[in-house]
Amino acid sequence: MPILVTGAVGFIGHHTCQALLDLLTPHPGFRFQNLDIADRDGMTELVRAHPEITGVIHLAAQAGVRHSLIDPYTYIQTNLMGQVVMLEAARLLPGLQHFVYASSSSVYGADAVRRSHSGRKAHPGVQPWRHGPRLHLCR
Ligand SMILES: NC(=O)c1ccc[n+]([C@@H]2O[C@H](COP(=O)([O-])OP(=O)(O)OC[C@H]3O[C@@H](n4cnc5c(N)ncnc54)[C@H](O)[C@@H]3O)[C@@H](O)[C@H]2O)c1
Repeated sequence: MPILVTGAVGFIGHHTCQALLDLLTPHPGFRFQNLDIADRDGMTELVRAHPEITGVIHLAAQAGVRHSLIDPYTYIQTNLMGQVVMLEAARLLPGLQHFVYASSSSVYGADAVRRSHSGRKAHPGVQPWRHGPRLHLCR
């Protein structure tokens, strides 16, 4: 089952890849591609070259919250444009069965309710970083 993992060098991504490879042993099939997820042409080329991909685990992101106040452009480029590029790239995969991506409880804002649940609404922004995980275009 060929799976495309973004953010494979990141904290969650590298554990995800390790777990997948452990599952796949003795058939290690990991290949690293150094590519910006917001690079529309590059991502399109990648998925066109690999129509056999059936799953996408999208974990690449600008994840630091505080830095988004200092450098909002990077966050918009990666977390908004990158997310759209990933979703559009996914639409080009004929056999795609699953698209998994990471969100964050921070989309619920700095209100007093601590626990998140599926019924809660996202809250207007406190910092630019939060708007990336709010982009739920998969449905
Ligand atoms: N770590 C946590 O506790 C946690 C909790 C909840 C949600 N999340 C979410 O999970 C996702 C991954 O978090 P993480 O902690 O692994 O972050 P991380 O910063 O460790 O990893 C992110 C990876 O994405 C890569 N990346 C950044 N911009 C890129 C781009 N434009 N193109 C390609 N790759 C790019 C980085 O190089 C890095 O390897 C994020 O969306 C984050 O918001 C993380």
